[in-house]
Amino acid sequence: MTAEIISGKEVAKTIRAELAEEVAQLKEEHGVVPGLCTVLVGEDPASVSYVTAKGKACEKIGVKSFQHKLPAETSEADLLKLVDELNHNEEVNGILVQLPLPKHIQESKVLYAIDPDKDVDGFHPVNVGRLVIGEELFPPCTPAGIQELIVRSGTPTEGAELVVVGRSNIVGKPISIMMLQKKAGANSTVTVCHTRTRDMAAHTTRADILIVAAGKPKAVTAEMVKPGATVIDVGVNRIGFTESGKAKLVGDVDFDAVKEVAGKITPVPGGVGPMTITMLLKNTVRAARLRQDNGAP
Ligand SMILES: NC(=O)c1ccc[n+]([C@@H]2O[C@H](COP(=O)([O-])OP(=O)(O)OC[C@H]3O[C@@H](n4cnc5c(N)ncnc54)[C@H](OP(=O)(O)O)[C@@H]3O)[C@@H](O)[C@H]2O)c1
Repeated sequence: MTAEIISGKEVAKTIRAELAEEVAQLKEEHGVVPGLCTVLVGEDPASVSYVTAKGKACEKIGVKSFQHKLPAETSEADLLKLVDELNHNEEVNGILVQLPLPKHIQESKVLYAIDPDKDVDGFHPVNVGRLVIGEELFPPCTPAGIQELIVRSGTPTEGAELVVVGRSNIVGKPISIMMLQKKAGANSTVTVCHTRTRDMAAHTTRADILIVAAGKPKAVTAEMVKPGATVIDVGVNRIGFTESGKAKLVGDVDFDAVKEVAGKITPVPGGVGPMTITMLLKNTVRAARLRQDNGAP
């Protein structure tokens, strides 16, 4: 059996088309154009390319994109001042401070200064709390993308044995909580594995849905997967370069072997990756919609 490939590229394209329609509707009915502001401190090449990609993605669906590119030596006080200005800027519905920040700036201080109603990354403790109690405003983007891939691939989640490998604050923990909620597209029985888990295969071989976010190539091999399972590979590991000089990427799952056992599987690249920016766009449009519904001037 060879698994069906869940194409994040295709799902992302569909969602972006849905969002473009919603953006057009907001403009037509209320004269509102959602705006996302990215803040980049320093010139880390990966961060520069992420911020550029986010700006382009916004423009393609009609979301206004603002960018602040600050020098690496920017002080924490100046960055906090900018965040405060953006919190009060009516054209900005979503604020994204690109991580990592230079070492002299305390990341949590900056992230916690963002107005929770503009926190489209979903990292503010208020939004994390809302997520835990099932009243989320802005689910964090990568976990939200994972959930969309599971649901839109037609994988039943209700009552499913769902195993997550990894317990980070940005992927493992939030996706575990989201899939546990008493809601459509969730209602799963969730197990979370990490480096102290005694016998990981004993858990993963039970999984109807297996989500792997370990940051280690081949952390999951074919023997660890239940036949027919849906496997979502979140990992992005750089393992050298392709012949054309591009970074060669692999996930955390031994893809070639696991695809012969799984029922459905996401590739790397082209799986979870394209979903993350798409969910950022979705949160930004939601922020604009909520502001409108809450009686913005
Ligand atoms: N596609 C995207 O948009 C996207 C977004 C975010 C992250 N990612 C990728 O997803 C991966 C995970 O990211 P992250 O930020 O969650 O990483 P992280 O902060 O390094 O967390 C990794 C987690 O996996 C666990 N782990 C590591 N090796 C393991 C193993 N062999 N067996 C069981 N558990 C193991 C760790 O356990 P301990 O807690 O015990 O250390 C930790 O909880 C990375 O490759 C990252 O690049 C992709």
